[in-house]
Amino acid sequence: MQAVEVFAPASVANLSCGFDVLGLCLEGVGDRMRFTQTEEKGIRIVHTSPSDLPTDPTKNVAGVAAQALLKDYPLSGGICIEIDKGILPGSGIGSSAASAVGAVVGVNALLEKPLAKEDLLPYALAGEAIASQAKHADNIAPALLGGMILVRSVEPMDVLKLPCPKELFVVVLHPQIELKTAEARALLGENVLLKNAIQQWANVGALVHALHTQDDELLAQSLQDVVAEPVRKKLIPGYDPIKASAMDNGALGCGISGAGPSIFALVKGKEKGEQVAKAMANNCTQLGINHKVYLSAINARGAEIINPK
Ligand code: HSE
Repeated sequence: MQAVEVFAPASVANLSCGFDVLGLCLEGVGDRMRFTQTEEKGIRIVHTSPSDLPTDPTKNVAGVAAQALLKDYPLSGGICIEIDKGILPGSGIGSSAASAVGAVVGVNALLEKPLAKEDLLPYALAGEAIASQAKHADNIAPALLGGMILVRSVEPMDVLKLPCPKELFVVVLHPQIELKTAEARALLGENVLLKNAIQQWANVGALVHALHTQDDELLAQSLQDVVAEPVRKKLIPGYDPIKASAMDNGALGCGISGAGPSIFALVKGKEKGEQVAKAMANNCTQLGINHKVYLSAINARGAEIINPK
């Protein structure tokens, strides 16, 4: 194969209680990437839409992820990676993870003997790690594999695909400001109060149980974050009223998407999703905050090759 095109989806990490261990894959929002084999060795990065991201493959997450995979599975020539970013960096919906995941899916497709998708995770992680300066797979695992994912361990990599309730939709409200993941992580410090840790891991367990038993009430109760939200919400203008508008309109839960500034709400049914999306967007407009809003089903497929099909 000489060239492939990949769609790498956006994702929502943490899902309130699951800091660094829970995430889900979004439908329709993401990056398009084209990979062409070249005779010249090495990786060349080209942005096909306006972007301030580096083109140096040692500094670009897609380049780093691609190089990590090629180090173990070399090609005779090189690869040109054209990136059309559909996700703004620093938006909180897994921009760097999408690029890292897209890179390994594209490079893998050009290998003589492609690896199974799961085996690509450590290579995508190498790329994602340079953006957030930490190793967490709660964006890359859902972006690669689709669905809702629990990351049990990153070294060694061990992820579990969780069952997704039918009719679960995600509203994502993106206030148009940029938050760097590394900075939002630095704010959290090193320690968590034991009473908060107890509450948080109880909620993670309850959330997983709720997904397995299709218990929406328990799902709603467990979507709480006592670790990152209280600290990080200060970085997001209008966070409390926007969250209140989602909850008042029947969202099961609402929280910071990844490191923010995007805010996600989980909702049962598309109609309810439209209502919640409208309420959150209206609230943002009243507060004078520029924003974009998405309503998405949960994408069960993850990153995929879109050309050739
Ligand atoms: N779990 C990570 C964090 C996700 O919250 O820092 C970053 O997108």
